[in-house]
Amino acid sequence: MHPKNSLKTRLMIACALAAFVSPLSALAEPVARGIWLGNTDGAAKTPPMGWNSWNAFRTEVDEAKVMGAAQALVDDGLARKGYIYVNLDDGWWQKRRVTDGRMIIRTRIFPSAATPDGTTSFRGFTDRLHSMGLKAGLYTDVGHNACSQAYDLHSPNLPEGTAGERQVGLDGHVSQDINLYFREWGFDYLKVDACGLADFAPDSKLVKDNGYIGLTPEIDRASLNRTDSVKVERRYAEVAAALKQANPDNDYVFSICNWGMANVREWGKEVGSSWRTSSDITPNWSSMLHNYDSAVKRALYAGPGHWNDPDILFIGAGDFDTDHLTEARSHFTLWAMLNAPLLISYDLRKAPQSLLDIWGNADLIAVNQDPAGNQAIVAYDSDDAQILVKTLADGHKVVALFNRTASPAKLNLLASHLKLKNDAPIQLTDLWSKAGITFTGETEFELAPHETRVFSVQGARELADGVYLSEIPGVINVADDGVREPQLDPTVHRMIDPWAGTRSGGSRPQYAGWGGAQADMTPYAQALQIGGHTYDSGIGVLGNSLLQVKNEGYATFRATVGVDDSTSNRDRAVSFTVYADGKLVAKTPPLKFGDAARDISADIAGHKIIELLVTDDNVANEQPVVVTWGEARLQK
Ligand code: GLA
Repeated sequence: MHPKNSLKTRLMIACALAAFVSPLSALAEPVARGIWLGNTDGAAKTPPMGWNSWNAFRTEVDEAKVMGAAQALVDDGLARKGYIYVNLDDGWWQKRRVTDGRMIIRTRIFPSAATPDGTTSFRGFTDRLHSMGLKAGLYTDVGHNACSQAYDLHSPNLPEGTAGERQVGLDGHVSQDINLYFREWGFDYLKVDACGLADFAPDSKLVKDNGYIGLTPEIDRASLNRTDSVKVERRYAEVAAALKQANPDNDYVFSICNWGMANVREWGKEVGSSWRTSSDITPNWSSMLHNYDSAVKRALYAGPGHWNDPDILFIGAGDFDTDHLTEARSHFTLWAMLNAPLLISYDLRKAPQSLLDIWGNADLIAVNQDPAGNQAIVAYDSDDAQILVKTLADGHKVVALFNRTASPAKLNLLASHLKLKNDAPIQLTDLWSKAGITFTGETEFELAPHETRVFSVQGARELADGVYLSEIPGVINVADDGVREPQLDPTVHRMIDPWAGTRSGGSRPQYAGWGGAQADMTPYAQALQIGGHTYDSGIGVLGNSLLQVKNEGYATFRATVGVDDSTSNRDRAVSFTVYADGKLVAKTPPLKFGDAARDISADIAGHKIIELLVTDDNVANEQPVVVTWGEARLQK
């Protein structure tokens, strides 16, 4: 098990014991470790790029369609630009053989998988993809059964046979299936869905009508508290361990697909290469907003090797088709800024040039694939418009101005949004039109409905000799965010559910993560403020938290710290401590609500891992204390 998990588990046990002894017992505290606790498994150093069959074909997928997409990736130059994963989604399976549990491929749609003895093999298929310079991805489920067995009951490509033969998911077969898919068949990428944990209740109509073997749900899509997040995490961790074992070269991608449920937005980074942050995207503006929102405030939880996944692209259909190129460009720009996996899901055998130009925008691909892995930060936030800023490995910025509404919108872009000097010229280059704009201090844009403007930026940094931590989320590992009990995040756009419509009292917040660590705002989306002073830059987090920062050559850490004025718990004192490679290098005395902010600085020269620890004398059943690392920065 991953060190973080064991840390977490120990904390949970300590809390449980403490609560048993007395309801007012102290909370177990995180401790600095001096080693990097972030997950380094898997090959997704930058967000995975490629193609996925689902939005294009659902279960009506076949070999000609997939190989056609693969050939088009090569012929259209998309593979050269990074789109190398060719991912086969739901629909490929025939059954699980009863004699030995081996998965059998539906050769009617994958003829090259046929073998004389009926065993079937995808080795020829993956060999062909590999010989084209591509990589191969496959789909499965973490439970007994897959999503199509609940939602595509009309499909001719559902698993066949007895209830046991139709149990195509990993449950009970984790290492057998993983070894088959990776060692024997040669896949490089696995998407692991979770319908098997959500939709097959033993007494449900679905299970009875279709003669499935039920599984008591561990995920209740309508209720975080009726979801067993620990069990779900444990199941995915078991898959992660099997993947690691089957891939000693570390060249694999593990895509967790439990749609933002079971608090995965917190633990996904410990377990997978990417994790879906929300339900399935549909080709609808409102759905795109919902999925985008589910990832946009989670920048501190992603970085090289682990990515928020707001789902595959739906460019080419519905609100993002060739008649809606403004929307299609917005969708692509936003996914690029979020460091989302870029997975085209369109029948590429007949892709029009206007769409190829969107997927093929090399400047935006470079933004998405920048090696620093800093997800964009929200520099201006509202339900109408947002300004996103992403810092590249070379220190330059990219800014996106996003009009969420169906009306034109005026947006002012300020040097301060970019953390650039107010009195020096700033040059922008439009990453769609390539046109240039120069301004000083502030400029204004009029955005068309649903338009996103995106620019690369040159200017003089506010902090000439360093970086704010909120500019470099890619090197930060939120080892412990101080969240006690997962809370639902109210900031995600609540669309009319594409499947249930308005057949309920309303669309509710669905995803845990409220109270998580944030860049340039508090965990509850307030401006950072200590003792009446507001901080434009900084990290907002809860007490009893541990952030790890990779130091790439800086000599000093500095911040101005204290209990944030917005905290609802005003009683507890907190201490801020800084460790460098496990050695204590700075510490504040206990600080309380209303105390003046304290400057803290530490010599970190030559040290690789900086740990920012906040401890308090909080008790288990109180609100956490909101704290601010104001202007937290690394300097030369
Ligand atoms: C779920 C996933 C989708 C897709 C389908 C396949 O809905 O979220 O991305 O894989 O299952 O049935």
